[in-house]
Amino acid sequence: MRVACAPGKVILSGEHAVVYGAPALALAVDRHMRVYYEPDKLPRLSWHAQERTHVLGLDKFSALRRRLDSHFDRYLRGELSVTQILRKPAELAFYAVDMARMLSGLEHLPRGSVRIDSDIPIGAGMGSSAALIAALLTLFGQVDDLDELIRQVHHCERLQHGRGSLIDAATVCSGGLVRLQEGKISRLDTESMDLGKGWFWVFTGTPASSTGACVERVRRGFEHSAIWSEYSDITQQIETALLSGEPVMELIRANHRLLTRIGVVPAPLVRFAEQVEQHGGAAKIAGAGSVSGDSGGLMLLWLPEGTPADLSLLPDWHWGELKEEKSGVRVIDT
Ligand code: PMV
Repeated sequence: MRVACAPGKVILSGEHAVVYGAPALALAVDRHMRVYYEPDKLPRLSWHAQERTHVLGLDKFSALRRRLDSHFDRYLRGELSVTQILRKPAELAFYAVDMARMLSGLEHLPRGSVRIDSDIPIGAGMGSSAALIAALLTLFGQVDDLDELIRQVHHCERLQHGRGSLIDAATVCSGGLVRLQEGKISRLDTESMDLGKGWFWVFTGTPASSTGACVERVRRGFEHSAIWSEYSDITQQIETALLSGEPVMELIRANHRLLTRIGVVPAPLVRFAEQVEQHGGAAKIAGAGSVSGDSGGLMLLWLPEGTPADLSLLPDWHWGELKEEKSGVRVIDT
């Protein structure tokens, strides 16, 4: 059996702003997608996820890839919405397996069965799709160059997310703390960074609006706004503060206010951030947020005293400590 493993991610700062050339910072976290491959001799690949099995004959892979590429072109032309590109999540996995074969110049597709095991929440802005694709490309392909792997993960991920930045792909592939600006990816040295106690993530439920819808709404209101240079300064200051152990509280609070101004923080999350501030902490959304409904996906909390359990969370919210995963995608067993 072969196993590949990729971490999840949390955006620390720069969501939305990264679309307008400002930097974004994201951290790979200790939640993982594991993909297990058991080879056999039958001319098909079977895919087991969430108690369902999907089987695709090896002769069907290239037709599926062509159909999905054409769906993506239709999405770009405005003929399909982003959620109409894939019919079911398993198609993304089969597409990635075929891409792995093509990229590595391999003649044959893998035969056998693939199973996934993940503790990255799905649809939570924690990079589960990017982690899945990165694990599949690493398991079935031979892409040695990290930048090339990131570009290919991003290429597959577009079927799920439409036009998105490289931030998820870069973070799950390289691990650690990643900075992205104008398409340039750098992995930051976190040896001196102590994320230790006080950092948490809170999942406030799947947003009613997709990442694509949020980006579109923000574009309509703020494409030419000066807010992005304010955002750029804050992200830069957060990076410096994190790496040198300086206080981050006021910076996270300022970041939250910028996100509130662009309209991606639902009202219950604004109230929650107030509550966190009254407890001597700071909170902001970590990801696209939402432009409708009450849920906003993931929030990042800096809470020097206590834990989110001390706050009044809605019943379906859950939380965890934010812990860095230094390793990116890798094969862990052969
Ligand atoms: O919530 P997520 O993980 O999909 O984050 C989206 C981040 C944006 O900056 C809003 C879009 C992007 O592709 O960078």
